[in-house]
Amino acid sequence: MEKIKLAIQKKGRLSEKSLELIDECDISFPNSAGRLMTAAYDFPIEILFLRDDDIPGYVEDGVADIGIVGENVLVESAKEVDLVTKLGFGRCRLSIAIPRGVAYQGIADLNGKAIATSYPRLLRKYLTENQVHAEIHEISGSVEIAPSIGLAEGICDIVSTGSTLLSNGLKEVEQIFSSEAVLIRNKNLSAAKQEILDKFMFRMTSVRKAKKNKYILLNAPNEKLEEIISLLPGLSSPTVQSLAREGWSSVHSVIQDQDFWEKIEQIKSAGAEGILIMPIEKLIY
Ligand code: PRP
Ligand code: ZN
Repeated sequence: MEKIKLAIQKKGRLSEKSLELIDECDISFPNSAGRLMTAAYDFPIEILFLRDDDIPGYVEDGVADIGIVGENVLVESAKEVDLVTKLGFGRCRLSIAIPRGVAYQGIADLNGKAIATSYPRLLRKYLTENQVHAEIHEISGSVEIAPSIGLAEGICDIVSTGSTLLSNGLKEVEQIFSSEAVLIRNKNLSAAKQEILDKFMFRMTSVRKAKKNKYILLNAPNEKLEEIISLLPGLSSPTVQSLAREGWSSVHSVIQDQDFWEKIEQIKSAGAEGILIMPIEKLIY
């Protein structure tokens, strides 16, 4: 039977969340420690564990059919692949940083300086757009130590929590790109593989929708029902059942994460009691 090959980062910022996403789709595979590839038990998918920088190229070539990678890596690679969807995790920014003790007035201060980076393409574009003439030193790792060893006066690298900059005595002076994890796809996927991708996406979407919503149960006096229901748009009309307690009903609905606390306060002051909120595992509509 046809299988789809998914490339994810072997080790790094996106690895854990990528595995979590697969797990939430109820796709399970044998313990993969130290392995390059593994096949799922219960879904036609094989998972390839690669260096993130290699993923766009492998997806372009069709070695992998789909991949999860940072938008920063994707754009820098300039590979010809389709961006299927943003995944909402692994948010970070690509920034220029300089030693903390060096004064900085503005971007023009970078003229004539050397900047070390693993993102020469994105950096060059930014410098050109801002009419800055700086030298770009392309290095493939441990960029943050470049200023302290005298290799460059500044760096351009990924900042997520900022702790790497902090521990290397650097300060962020320009943000040049913001990024999150994305799902990419080979441009010539076969119909059979596309069908598997659609199934994978269906599961992924229902998990993500579920995370944005909560299940709400509450008790309300009948004379307040109308007002309370108007505060609960839900997915469709809420379920209302009468309680053994005379003049009271129980209301079941779905409430969005957005404005959640504000809504709950309004519902409570409208007279609801015994409000119960529960996570939703999957949501399909
Ligand atoms: C980036 C970057 C820093 C770190 C910054 O590496 O190179 O080392 O993340 O994160 P922080 O602000 O939370 O300290 P990345 O995870 O992109 O992996 P890479 O080794 O593939 O560049
Ligand atoms: Zn990398």
